[in-house]
Amino acid sequence: MEIISSCDIAGKLCRQSRQSNQIISMVPTMGYFHAGHMSLMRWAKEQSTMLVVSLFVNPAQFGPGEDFDRYPQDLERDARLAGEAGVDLLFMPRAMDMYPAGYSTWVEVESLSHFLCGSKRPGHFRGVSTIVCKLFNLIRPHKAVFGQKDWQQWIIIRKMVRDLNMDVEVVGRPTIREADGLAMSSRNAYLSDEERKSAPQVYQGLVHVRELFRSGQTERKMLENLLLKYYRDNLPQAEIDYVQVVDAQTLETSRQARSGSLAAVALKLGRTRLIDNILLK
Ligand code: PAF
Repeated sequence: MEIISSCDIAGKLCRQSRQSNQIISMVPTMGYFHAGHMSLMRWAKEQSTMLVVSLFVNPAQFGPGEDFDRYPQDLERDARLAGEAGVDLLFMPRAMDMYPAGYSTWVEVESLSHFLCGSKRPGHFRGVSTIVCKLFNLIRPHKAVFGQKDWQQWIIIRKMVRDLNMDVEVVGRPTIREADGLAMSSRNAYLSDEERKSAPQVYQGLVHVRELFRSGQTERKMLENLLLKYYRDNLPQAEIDYVQVVDAQTLETSRQARSGSLAAVALKLGRTRLIDNILLK
């Protein structure tokens, strides 16, 4: 496995690989790998002859007061795990190279970036789409793989690629969960023991709302209120950012939920912001 931080060298290597008919797949990450990342890597490896993983904690997608400064990191462990997963290139650019002094170009997928997390984290998706666009330009992957826990991110990147005629297939892969249902996330490392014990309720609430939908409750507002009530009853210490039922593709709301709607939640347990979602079908 090559570990490269230079944008020029990584770009050159990938260009040469493409010219020699390698099929490049890419998993963009911010590191601190967990089983979710590993499953994306394993899947991407099977799809390609060259697997590139980027590891970059992107300052542009964190707002003031968010966790940029304390985002968990363990580069040595990440490099070992990437090697074990068969990663060919671990690309770890430096912030000063990705955003040199005077940097001023941003990519924003306007239609989708203001819903859900976008309404609570202004500028977050602009930072995400910009860095992913830059990574795609450098690595030029044939396929890029994202986890569906970050459903909105996946939908936004897919739209960016379509709108900007980028030649990359964007794939979303199912959320990987702990045995008790908690969605894998690097941020789970922030949870105290007490918070970790109650965190599976985030997913249990979503399962509950899917059951309600399956048993005939389709009124969106009602589903949202019942989900909110579930969290108030079962996770009273949580600070809810949003609880929403939206169209899974457009992220827009309508009066009735239907098969293919998405129930999504973001909440804070102590200092940890957790997000999760479930398809209603
Ligand atoms: O999901 C993430 O880890 C990040 O948002 C991404 C896609 C690597 C962009 O920084």
